[in-house]
Amino acid sequence: MQKQWYEIKGGKRLEGTVTISGAKNAAVAIIPAAVLAGETCILENLPHIQDVQSLKEILEELGVSVEYTDGDCMQIDSRTLRTTKALSEAVSSMRASYYLLGALLARYGEAEVALPGGCVIGARPIDQHIKGMRALGATVECDVEQNIVRAYADKLVGAEIYFDVVSVGATINVMLAACMAEGVTVLSNVAKEPHVVDVANFLNMMGATVKGAGTDVIRITGRPKLHGCGYAIIPDQIETGTFMIAAAATMGDVVIKNVIPTHMEAVSAKLMESGARVIEGDDGRDFYIRVVMNDRPRAINVKTLPYPGFPTDLQQPIMAYLCASNGISTINETIFENRFNHVRELRRMGASISVKDSYAKVKGIPSLRGADINASDLRAGASLMVAGLAARGTTNVHNIEFIDRGYEYIDAKLNALGAEVTRKEK
Ligand code: EPZ
Repeated sequence: MQKQWYEIKGGKRLEGTVTISGAKNAAVAIIPAAVLAGETCILENLPHIQDVQSLKEILEELGVSVEYTDGDCMQIDSRTLRTTKALSEAVSSMRASYYLLGALLARYGEAEVALPGGCVIGARPIDQHIKGMRALGATVECDVEQNIVRAYADKLVGAEIYFDVVSVGATINVMLAACMAEGVTVLSNVAKEPHVVDVANFLNMMGATVKGAGTDVIRITGRPKLHGCGYAIIPDQIETGTFMIAAAATMGDVVIKNVIPTHMEAVSAKLMESGARVIEGDDGRDFYIRVVMNDRPRAINVKTLPYPGFPTDLQQPIMAYLCASNGISTINETIFENRFNHVRELRRMGASISVKDSYAKVKGIPSLRGADINASDLRAGASLMVAGLAARGTTNVHNIEFIDRGYEYIDAKLNALGAEVTRKEK
């Protein structure tokens, strides 16, 4: 496969309007969840990103019919499903494949899914997913040699489940498994991210009974069958935050449309603390957030937390922004144990960053300088693009397949705001 990279000519203010796409982390859960319906589901506002394309292929490998209809909707009909074994390369290369466990177990009483091992940001165990499914009465076996998880149950019965760790994936996966179980399931210490709520809303549109998503306790009353529905995915909280940070990092003035401002409160607060102006409004059709910045940022302290705290997925982009701040900022990454791989790449652009345990200390400098750098994961890639946009000179960001997994048309969107980003290949 051709090696591709983004060439970014930095130092240009971002100005204008950008429209946010559908949320990746909602889409990668809702697409597998559509298998729960005994009829057709039609999904709108899905982002055109690699992870969505991969899930389409994965469902088709299972025999599910997945078609893009006119108007860019995805139509999913699982009545033609012919196997509950998802073991292909596409499955094992994508973390969100684990949602197939919950969905297939709930609908068919069995599932066999190949999963990735750890990943570059951390070990990423799924013990809480397994704990929840076992609590519902499933037998779950993990073949650690081959990284395959098998789950099966004659019957799933509602249970009270307390998550030892606040986990987006475990919350969603066990919600999927429980929505057709017999009786009531109570999930405590759950994740409250916008995409968790979006999945719950989708399940309810299919006739499930899921209450309390977005709070600390979710109550699910199992239903014997779920029906098809139409559903539109929410806007992407992390893409929104990425563009907010890029606007501030380039001392720009950007209106970001098709957003949900309440999802962005932690990010807005931190950008305002750093000296940016963040204005929320609606133009009669869409909510928007406008970010205006006229100076180098003030140094701030950031601590990542489960929603509604500052999102871990924006820790890497905001660090790039703070590299050019006045003063010393600290970043405390409390969610993942190894999410500082972008630091060495930012240092190659002149950043002054020291890391100890879960803390990074960023000593601001007047400006980063362009360099050849490598993305190590999706949000590290976003961080390096923010750095390249703000830096003096030209930056080449390599391994951009990571970025294409989660950001729809990011080069075109940035160039429409006055950036100079060119996709290159050799
Ligand atoms: C989801 O990952 C997102 N991915 C991640 O976004 C995001 O960073 C993360 O949530 C936190 O918000 C998708 O939604 C596809 P977790 P997930 O379970 O569900 C530990 C991106 O860039 N944990 O909330 O895997 C885990 O190790 C990606 O879009 C357990 O210990 O995250 C981590 O330390 C990167 N046992 C913490 O919980 C478990 O069973 C939070 O992980 C599960 C998780």
